[in-house]
Amino acid sequence: MIEVRNLTKVYGTFKAIDNVSFTVQAGEIVGFLGPNGAGKSTTLRILTCYQPATSGSASVAGFDVFSQSLEVRRRIGYLPEGNPLYPEMRVREYLNFRGKLRGMSRDERAGAIRNVAERCWLGDFIDRPIGQLSKGMRQRVGLADALLHDPQVVVLDEPTIGLDPNQIRETRKLITELARRHTIILSSHILPEVEAVCQRMIIIAGGRIRASGSIAQVRDRITGASRLLAEIKGSRGDVENAVRQIPGVKGVEAVASEGWCRLRVVSAEGQDVREQIAAAAARNGWPLRELRLEVGSLEEFFTQITAEAAAA
Ligand SMILES: Nc1ncnc2c1ncn2[C@@H]1O[C@H](COP(=O)(O)OP(=O)(O)O)[C@@H](O)[C@H]1O
Ligand SMILES: [Mg+2]
Repeated sequence: MIEVRNLTKVYGTFKAIDNVSFTVQAGEIVGFLGPNGAGKSTTLRILTCYQPATSGSASVAGFDVFSQSLEVRRRIGYLPEGNPLYPEMRVREYLNFRGKLRGMSRDERAGAIRNVAERCWLGDFIDRPIGQLSKGMRQRVGLADALLHDPQVVVLDEPTIGLDPNQIRETRKLITELARRHTIILSSHILPEVEAVCQRMIIIAGGRIRASGSIAQVRDRITGASRLLAEIKGSRGDVENAVRQIPGVKGVEAVASEGWCRLRVVSAEGQDVREQIAAAAARNGWPLRELRLEVGSLEEFFTQITAEAAAA
């Protein structure tokens, strides 16, 4: 349903996104997860025909976002970051105005407004001025606007930013319900949000995709790159060197205290080097009193790749 190939966007000399590729299947609800400045909004604006890319291609429902943007706009509903609305308009008036912009007839607009009012729980405040609404209600108006023409694909850029916990819960529930009828891509800088709402996630940081897959797959990938803890008695330099030489060991951090050397060892994906560490200790005659695998959390993984992207 969505295909993004080698998308790059350069602002001046700055690469906001760099060779981004991903696909979203019909009916999926995908989270586009990354810290502020990762390139989420840039990617989503390109996908929704709001700005051109520097290179690469993207298509929605088989239509190219650059050369067939009218066809794409017809099939896509977009809730931009910050949800710009006209505060002086009433909700119904605003939706009617947006329907006109989309070329919907009077009858189509009436039917569509009734429909989205129900789907986005606008009932009570449909005739109130937008300026009087809470942030949560406004977000629902933004969603109603995105759904007005019953698009196949819905793109939501940080849909719960700035909402209070109740409004967040409500909005997430609404998005989950929408997923029954639409393919959804939503961006967020909050991992639990993506975990709560999405089936699949694409992690982006520093303009590049760092990981993607189902939540379970990304979790597996993390446990795959194993870290372990070891405590070995011996001189810190010797112990560290011996462990560093073990094939598969990618990094060693050691702290010494009272003759004991406490090591954090990172090994390559899928490699468990506990046996080799025990053998190295035995070979050197070093006492070993702890050796265990540490399984990282998704939260740590996300923090780590975010930090790596910031450092690069
Ligand atoms: N119009 C622009 N001109 C220059 N730089 C921009 C522009 N829009 C975004 N950027 C930069 O591109 C990077 C990615 O921005 P953005 O896509 O908004 O990230 P995100 O939505 O993930 O927070 C940021 O460093 C941002 O400052
Ligand atoms: Mg953004």
